[in-house]
Amino acid sequence: MTKEKIEQIRSEFPILTEQVYKKPLIYFDNAATTQKPKCVVEQINSAYYHLNANIHRGVHYLSQKATEAHEAARQTVAEFLGATKREEVIFTRGTTEAINLVAFSFGEAFCKTGDEIVISVLEHHSNIVPWQMLCERKGLKLRVIPMNEKGELELDEYAKLLNDKTKIVSVAHVSNVLGTVNPVKEIIRIAHEKNIPVLVDGAQAVPHIPVDVIDLDADFYVFSGHKIYGPTGIGALYGKEKWLNAIPPYQGGGEMIATVSFEKTTYNELPFKFEAGTPDYIGSTALATALNYVKSIGIEEIAAYEKELTEYATKRMLEIEGMRIIGTADEKSAVISFLVGKIHPYDIGMLLDKLGIAVRTGHHCAQPLIDSLSIPGTVRASFAFYNTKEEIDSFMEALKRVVMMLS
Ligand code: ALA
Repeated sequence: MTKEKIEQIRSEFPILTEQVYKKPLIYFDNAATTQKPKCVVEQINSAYYHLNANIHRGVHYLSQKATEAHEAARQTVAEFLGATKREEVIFTRGTTEAINLVAFSFGEAFCKTGDEIVISVLEHHSNIVPWQMLCERKGLKLRVIPMNEKGELELDEYAKLLNDKTKIVSVAHVSNVLGTVNPVKEIIRIAHEKNIPVLVDGAQAVPHIPVDVIDLDADFYVFSGHKIYGPTGIGALYGKEKWLNAIPPYQGGGEMIATVSFEKTTYNELPFKFEAGTPDYIGSTALATALNYVKSIGIEEIAAYEKELTEYATKRMLEIEGMRIIGTADEKSAVISFLVGKIHPYDIGMLLDKLGIAVRTGHHCAQPLIDSLSIPGTVRASFAFYNTKEEIDSFMEALKRVVMMLS
């Protein structure tokens, strides 16, 4: 990406010109949430000003217009993920709700005592706890794919975990702590040889690398809007029609029904069966705006630029004595977790903040992964396409100062 292009992109994100503690903000916490371009904020405003009526219910003009916009947003999400059927996209509050939906509904339909669920050691809590809850509810066992010292999943060990009792595999596409891009296509292929479906947590992948659910042959694929420049509180679950038809609804209420009587309720068709209550049609349309914005820049171009940023930052960070990069997979996304000597990650994060630099510290909602590495946590810098090498240089100056102070 050219300098001019990045400058133009940055001008779309007003928050990037903010100051914190009288220092220019350097926002390197993009894996936690991304900033929003003007078009997304304007879409939210415009939807409330011109499009606000409850959808799928009213015969009146505004309701129909809002319904059309919500369904068009569903189409945009489907196309963004490479899905061919609009009804295979369910709007959720985000990745967490999407995984909970599958863990509950798939668990109800297909799991019984003694069955097993396979996840990996590098999962976010949102891809651990819903499965643990299912295990507790129905007496299942959780099996965990190990990783090597670079933070790459061990596929031989993975294949050995699959057996007749395995009901589903659920893995992250990209680790939010290590940045590892998991070979999900291969993981899915191996599971499918044994007719086991796979859910892919795409929260950290969709904003950074091209995703095609048909090419991956994913049974379920989930992501959050706020991590891809969209609003908070909206995300999506892609599910193959055959699975979505085979599992029961997750929540009951309006809109997910076909008929209701006090004796019996029948359920609506896809995707509405999984969208009880008034959907977030403001969020869905703003999410579509965000996806179109990303598309207009080009996800391949974004991936290439972020790779350049990550490699540059990694190289520069290794200038610091005692620097330990946590996660050195061959395939890595725009996340760098690190520790310096014996300094506590929290202290580094606190002082960087005072210098205007936003990073995340701690276990990053992946406590079992952090425990497996026998570390107290990490400092994590995570990039987006609006970040620059100049920001990385400023971050380096600040980091050197901070390390000197704390050593
Ligand atoms: N999952 C988000 C993160 O990794 C919150 O920071």
